[in-house]
Amino acid sequence: MPILFHENAREFHLYNDQISYIMQIMKNDQIANLYYGSCIRDRENFSYLVRTKYCSEAAYTSVDEDHKLSLQYIQQEYPSYGTSDFRYPAYCIKQNNGSSITNFTYKSHEIFPGKKKLPGLPATYVESEEEATTLEIRLVDDLINTELVLSYTIFEGLPVIARNVRFINLGVAAICLERVMSACVDLPEDDFTMVHLVGAWGREHYVKERELGEGIQGIYSMRGSSSAEHNPFIALRRNNTTQFSGEVYGFSLVYSGNHLEQVEVDHNNMTRVIIGIHPDTFQWELTAGAMFQTPEAVMVYSDKGINGMSQTFHQLFRNRLVRGYWRDKARPVLVNNWEATQTAFTEEKILQLAAKAKELGIEMLVLDDGWFGDRDGEEAGLGDWYVKNNKKLPDGIEGLADKIERIGLKFGLWFEPEMVNKDSDLYRQHPDWIIHTPGRFQSPSRFQHVLDFSRKEVIDYIYDLMDKCLSKAKISYVKWDMNRYITECYSVTQLPEQQGKIFHQYVLGVYDLYERLISKYPTILFESCSSGGARFDPGMLYYAPQAWASDNSDAIDRIKIQYGTSYVYPLSSIGAHVSHVPNLQNGRTTPLSTRGNVAFFGAFGYEMDLGELSEDDSKQVKEQVEFYKKYVKLFHKGTFYRMDNPFSKDVASWMVISEDRNEALVGYYRLNLSVNCGWKYLKLTGLDPDKLYSVNQGSQLSYGDELMKIGIMIDEFEWEMQNIEYGSKIVHLLCVENKEVS
Ligand code: GLA
Repeated sequence: MPILFHENAREFHLYNDQISYIMQIMKNDQIANLYYGSCIRDRENFSYLVRTKYCSEAAYTSVDEDHKLSLQYIQQEYPSYGTSDFRYPAYCIKQNNGSSITNFTYKSHEIFPGKKKLPGLPATYVESEEEATTLEIRLVDDLINTELVLSYTIFEGLPVIARNVRFINLGVAAICLERVMSACVDLPEDDFTMVHLVGAWGREHYVKERELGEGIQGIYSMRGSSSAEHNPFIALRRNNTTQFSGEVYGFSLVYSGNHLEQVEVDHNNMTRVIIGIHPDTFQWELTAGAMFQTPEAVMVYSDKGINGMSQTFHQLFRNRLVRGYWRDKARPVLVNNWEATQTAFTEEKILQLAAKAKELGIEMLVLDDGWFGDRDGEEAGLGDWYVKNNKKLPDGIEGLADKIERIGLKFGLWFEPEMVNKDSDLYRQHPDWIIHTPGRFQSPSRFQHVLDFSRKEVIDYIYDLMDKCLSKAKISYVKWDMNRYITECYSVTQLPEQQGKIFHQYVLGVYDLYERLISKYPTILFESCSSGGARFDPGMLYYAPQAWASDNSDAIDRIKIQYGTSYVYPLSSIGAHVSHVPNLQNGRTTPLSTRGNVAFFGAFGYEMDLGELSEDDSKQVKEQVEFYKKYVKLFHKGTFYRMDNPFSKDVASWMVISEDRNEALVGYYRLNLSVNCGWKYLKLTGLDPDKLYSVNQGSQLSYGDELMKIGIMIDEFEWEMQNIEYGSKIVHLLCVENKEVS
């Protein structure tokens, strides 16, 4: 069993063949962390790692007669504020008498095979008990009669620990949870660089790095969703760590609402990471007998560089976070009408698009925004999830879906279930159903408002409308959008003291609606979307196996977006489409081949008027679709490596390789036009050095060691000759024999 408890030393050792995580119940009965990192051998006692010293500036814990145990020197598991540690805490509980001082001490623990589900929340899971082992440590604060359970799951064969925390009020008085982070990790050193994904609409998930300094650094969202601005992920890499080697600690929050990832470096050169629901927009009254469950935080350790960390996240999220029918299936190649028509479509136009798509080998047509209510632009209709005036769709959605199926394509449909326009039947009937603060201005965004998903009757109403639509028409795919952030957060049905709950309850409501729909329609493929990638997070992946990565479909910008997204999220989850040029968002013209070569490394599709393609381009699209279908398994299940970094170079490259290392696909992209730039030696990675690979169907035969040490010679001369800007190449490798080892 990979979790040991040493009774004499009162130490826990969570380990597998890659990581060790060691904790001790200290003499004050609180929990310290002694070590987190690469796997080390087990010992009866690691207590020499508890940092104690007498210093006149320090405060000491009550049980400590020799004045040596000060919490400010201790790497703690779940620290509080206000006794002998002055760093930012992991939790804070306001009590009836106004105090926030607590003392949770060890009472018992349980080690069991497998992993529990988190009630109402998304989380990683196991399919059999052998896949993971869980430790739950039960701590109690006797004065307020409240229990705190720290939960740790270590996965077999993966350098992953998944954590969560739950509070149970066993007393008679209510308490107020003001901060409940999902995890805290104290590391004994500070030679780290913080890595995170920043952005905005149209440039989501850009990679940002900054060396840690004393004080606070962090990222967050208080926008009501995980946001395009800061993805709920941070990593600490050693300062000398690269994509390929060195240590990295990655932290990802399985949650879609307000979040905080904060790193504090203190005067003892210790580094504290906290990750969880953002405390500034949260307050939870925990009544007698009630329980509060935090979201899950996933911690990944890598000593194989940043690629190593990403590969672990990919493997875990692809196989044990994404669920259901579509988890292991090849995703259909689709065409979405949004960039082609926006809301101004006719049924005839959609059917033409479908017919052309069928001719090109595309498998699904997705009808985007504009099919419901009085929707002819952004200003009306959201909330009315039914065809109201049949001028666009004479036979409704059912009729259209039938016609699309008759053409031989599957049919997908766009919804924005959490939103409402004031110009809608829904709003006219239920003006109090939007999130708003009485007496205050209701800030519109994109002419729309957010429905109060903390209220069950609101969710029930939307469920009924969607259920009616999905049960009547042949719908195989749902694109679930969420196109604005939450302002004036308040729920008119809740008491004043409950208003701190609304942001979190809203997210729970979204999860609830998803759960009801995917349970009733398990074979529908859900894609989440939020003006592109504004809610691209692990919480969503539990319900929707893929997410639209960005409204910016320009191939060159997409390289950066997909490169950054791949830090955490598997290629199978990254919605990526080939679109029209000049690009709708930035006006750039790129070759069709490059647009395809970028989108292949994702959940592939088209977002353009296929009817406008020239004969040559149609032929090329047909080839792209065939190519993708042939290699979809490799793209989605292969091990992905980033190589050339588009944020620091004018080229980018990446590759996927099959698990047996017999086949690989490499993408190489030029981000600008260059003249007389010579040859590039693209050094591959992850290959078997002893295998002989056929490069591009036999045009070159090279061993893995050559391809990794010398590289593939990329000659860009042809692009120069033909003045091709933004050229790209896909290189295919196939093992043709194993080298004889003499
Ligand atoms: C968002 C999505 C787009 C499209 C539009 C429709 O911006 O990201 O893909 O669905 O909404 O309004």
